[in-house]
Amino acid sequence: QDWRLLLVNAWNLLPESYTVELVRLKNGLQVDKRIYDDLNAMLTDCRAAGLQPIVCSAYRTQATQTRLYNNKVSRLRAVGYSAEEARVEAARWVAPPGTSEHQTGLALDISCASLNFELEEAFAYTKEGKWLKTNAPLYGFILRYPRRKEHITQYPWEPWHIRFVG
Ligand code: DAL
Ligand code: ZN
Repeated sequence: QDWRLLLVNAWNLLPESYTVELVRLKNGLQVDKRIYDDLNAMLTDCRAAGLQPIVCSAYRTQATQTRLYNNKVSRLRAVGYSAEEARVEAARWVAPPGTSEHQTGLALDISCASLNFELEEAFAYTKEGKWLKTNAPLYGFILRYPRRKEHITQYPWEPWHIRFVG
């Protein structure tokens, strides 16, 4: 198995035994240390182009992903969803624990100052979003949840979420 192609989604849970050697970014977030040099090169070149990419989310523990998912469920419950409806709807946006590729340390969410670090579709139309779409693959990163591929990825368009595949 090639670690770079590790597939994690609703049908391919991360094995509980999965371990990863992490390295810390300057902002405190962590990634799989094997992607650090490529990530650094990408961010450095993006900044050299006059842009301000901000890594907003990177490696997440099972506990963190559980908290994010449960928060989403709670917010849906608060606006009237039943428990079951809330679980299903939440999973359309936030991967249930064990199914998020953020837990591999190979995925990152990137935003920019002009968007107030928000993760939203508008990122696709920022300079940083456009730069990443064009250039991230040169460093081994892909946009993992593209527009019009929702029927394959099972997630809405996430122009901010990139995944290292080498
Ligand atoms: N929003 C992506 C799918 C995740 O939670 O991993
Ligand atoms: Zn993400």
